[in-house]
Amino acid sequence: MTAPLPPLAIIPPDIVAPSDYLPYAQARMTEMAWAYFSGGAGEERVLAQNEKATEAYRILPRVLTEMQQASTHFSLLGKSYAFPIFLAPVAYQRLAHPDGELASALAAAAMQAPFVISMQSSVGLEILATQAPGPQWLQWYWQSDQQASQRLLRQAVQLGIEAIVLTVDAPVQGIRYQEQRAQFQLPTGIDAVNLRGFKQKPLPMAQAGQSPLFGTGFLQEAPTWTQITEFIAQSPLPVLLKGILHPEDAKQAVASGAAGIVVSNHGGRALDAVPTSFQMLPAIAQVVAGRIPILLDGGIRRGSDVFVALALGASAVLIGRPYVYGLAAAGASGVAHVLHMLRTEFEITMALAGCARLDQIQSRCIWQP
Ligand code: FNR
Repeated sequence: MTAPLPPLAIIPPDIVAPSDYLPYAQARMTEMAWAYFSGGAGEERVLAQNEKATEAYRILPRVLTEMQQASTHFSLLGKSYAFPIFLAPVAYQRLAHPDGELASALAAAAMQAPFVISMQSSVGLEILATQAPGPQWLQWYWQSDQQASQRLLRQAVQLGIEAIVLTVDAPVQGIRYQEQRAQFQLPTGIDAVNLRGFKQKPLPMAQAGQSPLFGTGFLQEAPTWTQITEFIAQSPLPVLLKGILHPEDAKQAVASGAAGIVVSNHGGRALDAVPTSFQMLPAIAQVVAGRIPILLDGGIRRGSDVFVALALGASAVLIGRPYVYGLAAAGASGVAHVLHMLRTEFEITMALAGCARLDQIQSRCIWQP
């Protein structure tokens, strides 16, 4: 095992696509950090499917279209954004680079991309919100400590956070297990700083022969639609639900008062037997029927993937691992570069598909062989 290399000071000229960052990132992380960021749940079937998800679609070129007024601007929840690519919440980014989430937030701000801060961020909310002047959302995991939750929510409002992204596909911390497989342990000095004041109950361990989840009260703290609906009603900020894959849950999300949903399988890190977000998006878009915006993540690796997501009914996408690899390789410059490459690829795709505006990206622009 060789020691991780220091982050790059200059972006090498052979990095011309986001995936080119992979080897540079891997060489700059510990083995454990690499396993944590690059890995998925179980046998990593879903992770592999995610990365191939858009191979089922082709983009239909249109020629000689008027593109003089072309733009990627759009509005979402009453705010205007420059292009439809967000940085997804990814925990513990100081494992990837010493500056961690601050580098990602600065890059996002410089590139005018919204940054979704993980509730398990290894840099404090206040530092991120005051030092990086871009649009920011806060991802939330349901917490049983209501007092501490209210405190953090109030702080988020004061700091100008625009929305809450409530992740509902991993209701109890510990239900995802790939971290254990990688023997994941946070090194000293890296922790979920925003959760320090929260009272956490230790996860119960099953005795031999005992039902491991149902017999231990493991799921006692897991929220249900009742709590989520109440949380949304009381939230001072719009709440989007992240981790929706079933059209019935999308319907329920609309009924619960959610401001939007993120169609996601948690980047293949939750249940290793689910469909990809792309596979479920058309059915979800159909039941949501434009009542709330739909975002999508999981396997977005190229600008043309963004185009396919929009053609199938998403308003915007989020990227996870691609920007973390940029972060590990070259800090804020790497993250900004990944966003720049994806935006450029996306604009090229729009131009060659004859779409001058995002609302022109429709299902008729793509083709399934
Ligand atoms: C995540 N993801 C995630 N999601 C979330 O809601 N809260 C979190 O704290 C985290 N943490 C996290 C850590 C790591 C290492 C990864 C790779 C992912 C999931 C993330 O927001 C997003 O759904 C996926 O990463 C999207 O898939 P891609 O772009 O990585 O393929």
